[in-house]
Amino acid sequence: MLVNVNDYQEVAAARLSQAAYDYYRGGARDELALDRNRRAFQEYAVHYKVLAGVEQVDLGTSVLGLPVSFPVMAAPTAFHGMADPQGELSSARAVTAEGCVFILSTLSNTPIEQVVEQASGPVLFQLYVYKDRGITRELVQRAERAGARALVVTVDAPVLAVREKDVRNGFTLPPGLKLANLSGVGNDDLGGGLGDYVQRHLDPSLSWRDLEWLIGQTSLPVVAKGIVRPDDAAQAAALGVRAVVVSNHGGRQLDHSPATLHCVAAVRQAVPEGVEIWMDGGVRRGADVMLACCLGARAVLVGRPILWGLAAAGQEGVRQVMQTLRQEMMEAMMLTGCSRLDQLSPSLLERLKE
Ligand code: FNR
Ligand code: LAC
Repeated sequence: MLVNVNDYQEVAAARLSQAAYDYYRGGARDELALDRNRRAFQEYAVHYKVLAGVEQVDLGTSVLGLPVSFPVMAAPTAFHGMADPQGELSSARAVTAEGCVFILSTLSNTPIEQVVEQASGPVLFQLYVYKDRGITRELVQRAERAGARALVVTVDAPVLAVREKDVRNGFTLPPGLKLANLSGVGNDDLGGGLGDYVQRHLDPSLSWRDLEWLIGQTSLPVVAKGIVRPDDAAQAAALGVRAVVVSNHGGRQLDHSPATLHCVAAVRQAVPEGVEIWMDGGVRRGADVMLACCLGARAVLVGRPILWGLAAAGQEGVRQVMQTLRQEMMEAMMLTGCSRLDQLSPSLLERLKE
């Protein structure tokens, strides 16, 4: 019986090829950041209120003005085609059917147009900036034309950190799967693997000037993903981003990154109220979502949990993972004595000493 997200991971592990599973699960190098992200959630105790008269919990909120049924989004993750024959169509249908926002990776196996068309709710587009700005501009325009509701530009990947299992496995896309958003511009083949692709095509010199350029290029709201420092968040906000994602790429980039949960409160304080703070990294329980919201996140993203649901049971599996997180969050809110998200605050939490 599949009761929690870890159960879906176990089923996914049995169903996926070893190389696909290792790619999805892995983190950079010694996987310090991967472990830290997860452990951070254990380092808080919740000083819950009793007799708070909570009969019903309302988890509804909005992100960038888009109403959502609870504060969990699908993080952009590459290559859903390895987990399900319909790839991102299945995951996007499931996530939007749950009243949540789906973020499509630049490196998806399904083109943005089809994903937006098949989704029943908002789709955002995660953007990798190509050395060739013509390609980047084309991607932006394609996302706009397709009806994406925001651009989530990833700022923590000037190079791809080595995930050592991927090296040992010689990880690349299985035959038949392509980078569907890059067809037509000649960069749709992974060839010698992902690290090599990123090195050949993505721009390692990305800077604040480029973020400014991008904001000037598009009518869509821009979100910066991959920030852990308050000063970086403040600078992004000053340039006009509408949200900052406190993220270390799920522990897949700098191995010595701090746990993202521990960065949320300081980043929240460093940016104006009107700029939303989202976070990701290690969210596996509904109570984790509540902790992140207590510390100032408007919403969280989940990466691997979506992939586990997709690999375990396709579209239905992703729905079940989202529903599991929702149920767990409801329970945590009730037991904390909170009926709405705006009742969550850092004062409910104690950061435990090591
Ligand atoms: C990612 N992530 C990611 N981020 C991004 O901006 N573009 C991408 O294409 C990908 N691809 C990707 C693939 C896989 C397999 C994983 C696990 C992650 C990072 C992702 O958006 C997110 O930051 C993390 O996954 C969040 O951590 P959890 O929820 O997986 O612990
Ligand atoms: C990854 C890239 C694709 O983390 O973002 O694998």
